[in-house]
Amino acid sequence: MRLDKFLSETGTASRSESRKAARAGGISVNGDPVSDPSFPIDPEHDEVSYFGRRVHYQKYVYLMMNKPEGVISATDDISERTVLDLLPDKYRRLGLFPCGRLDKNTTGLLILTNNGALAHKLLSPKHHVKKAYRFTCERPLSQADCVQLEHGVDIGEARPTAPARLSLSGDCAGEITVTEGKFHQIKRMFEAVGNRIITLERTAFAGIPLDPTLAYGSFRTLTQEEAEILEGR
Ligand code: URA
Repeated sequence: MRLDKFLSETGTASRSESRKAARAGGISVNGDPVSDPSFPIDPEHDEVSYFGRRVHYQKYVYLMMNKPEGVISATDDISERTVLDLLPDKYRRLGLFPCGRLDKNTTGLLILTNNGALAHKLLSPKHHVKKAYRFTCERPLSQADCVQLEHGVDIGEARPTAPARLSLSGDCAGEITVTEGKFHQIKRMFEAVGNRIITLERTAFAGIPLDPTLAYGSFRTLTQEEAEILEGR
């Protein structure tokens, strides 16, 4: 891999910053200064330093974001603000994309990664990845509504929704956990029982809970344990 690509992919420096740094003698590979930004390196084995700081290679990056309302789960859009717009430049160079989609007015846990194969697996219906949502709805939920939502409802697809888990924290509020990820899944499930979602927040994905210290719009990298939960699936 080219040295400047490595520095860009590790979020260390843009290609033009790397060029300047290399010229200024700020980059060394295995202890030797390198002035050529296209110098070939082995990211797994070579030791690269940028102005004296060791640059560690991480093949994949995983971020947890607390998505705010009003931004869309996409990488770019001509008119709307996207979740990628909330990241500093250093992260925007890494080829990250949201793992799954939350509606514009849904908040909460969104994983961003550049591991396409893993994202594909996590989103595949075959893998039954659990997603938990805290909701408020327009009308009180009856016992019968809860039973229906848990057993499966007709949302206009070939089959009823897969079994879900629901717990109420009030007449019109609670948490629902599903293993599918159909378009507008939760909103359509509530419509199927004559109700309407008012607010929706994803509180967990694949067993990883939303970090309660993350303010809306902020993010952090997944811990080693959290990344292993995702990768181990
Ligand atoms: N279900 C929905 O209806 N919307 C979301 O954003 C996520 C799940």
